[in-house]
Amino acid sequence: MPTEFISLTFPNDSNELAPKPGTPADPAFLTRYARTLDDYGFKYTLLPYDAGGFDPWTQGAYIAAVTKNLKIIIALRPNTVYPTVAAKALATLDQLSNGRAVVHFIAGGSDVEQAREGDFLTKEERYGRLEEYIKILRRAWSNSEAFDWEGKYFQFKNYSNRVRPVNGHIPISVGGSSPEAYRIGGSLADIFGLWGEPLKDTKEQIDKIYAEAEKAGRADRPRIWVTFRPIVAETEELAWAKAHRTLDALNGNKTAFQKTFPNFAQGNSEPQNVGSQRLLEIAKRGDVQDRALWYPTVTATNARGASTALVGSPQTLADAILDYVDLGAELISIRGYDNYNDVVDYGRYILPLVYKGIAEREEKDKEGTAVKTEVNGDSKTIVVPSESA
Ligand SMILES: Cc1cc2nc3c(=O)[nH]c(=O)nc-3n(C[C@H](O)[C@H](O)[C@H](O)COP(=O)(O)O)c2cc1C
Repeated sequence: MPTEFISLTFPNDSNELAPKPGTPADPAFLTRYARTLDDYGFKYTLLPYDAGGFDPWTQGAYIAAVTKNLKIIIALRPNTVYPTVAAKALATLDQLSNGRAVVHFIAGGSDVEQAREGDFLTKEERYGRLEEYIKILRRAWSNSEAFDWEGKYFQFKNYSNRVRPVNGHIPISVGGSSPEAYRIGGSLADIFGLWGEPLKDTKEQIDKIYAEAEKAGRADRPRIWVTFRPIVAETEELAWAKAHRTLDALNGNKTAFQKTFPNFAQGNSEPQNVGSQRLLEIAKRGDVQDRALWYPTVTATNARGASTALVGSPQTLADAILDYVDLGAELISIRGYDNYNDVVDYGRYILPLVYKGIAEREEKDKEGTAVKTEVNGDSKTIVVPSESA
């Protein structure tokens, strides 16, 4: 499977560097932003979910109408839409977009946030509900025969779905870093979403997800999605200066952020979701980890959402991203802080370098693998062609 890029879409130019409380959805901005993603070869955009925020479904339908190739990832909390309704809504979006719908499940990481929309299940129960939900979607998309459901969280009778996905199925993604997330995502998801952690920690998470896939008896395993917030400039020096300006802005506009995204502002209390807890724990190991992974943006925001930055020149960032590609990540999500301008920079300077790095790897693979061997007692290096390597 190829390496593909994801971004995230907000419907106006309010962002973390310059939050603008109360800004409405801006169709001109959304059109320009989505088309820029499409033009630069991003393959997906995530429409995120929070209890008080803009609706992902209507934004997704809008984006589908103004783009050609971009796939629309609807972030979905199972407490917000009955699964039979979601099955039809996603399949309808899929048909209207010629097969470009994707769903990203959020079990729910915070009791307070879940309660805002009437959800009082424990986190363990929320994951149990998610498991049932995914099974219902798979069943509803597989054929139009009527079926009953007698589950713990959902019960219905004689439901049949006439609205089928274009390719028979819509990719299902699960995000999280708790054992429950690994279990449900590993056993049932097509894609597993992670936030950017150091290579070693990411590898540990991937291994756990794959182990769950194997335990569930799957022949395949979820494609891995890793998320970063790159801060890029022409040189290392300029990129680091920009990183510190970004950090100053994040620290300086906490009140405006709180007013703009009240449900996302985590304050200083310990987040309940394991993904954020892990980021904060890893931040204690040092500001810069691996090649260019930068943690002060994590601590400044109390790890609200994807918050690990990658800082450097385009080549440094491409090399850092390629490290994750080598680790097995096929989906790379990059979103900056100045959303629109960052998409342009990434599209112009980072994506081409990553694709170049991948092409070089493929070329090397074709040439074969260098193997040390002994010939008549002498140690020699020979190249074994890929097919027999
Ligand atoms: C790539 C990715 C995207 C996410 N998008 C959202 C989102 O849009 N809204 C949200 O509330 N949580 C989002 N989350 C957060 C988690 O899905 C959420 O906290 C999870 O339900 C529980 O996390 P845990 O298993 O790490 O404890 C996202 C997570 C990942 C990895």
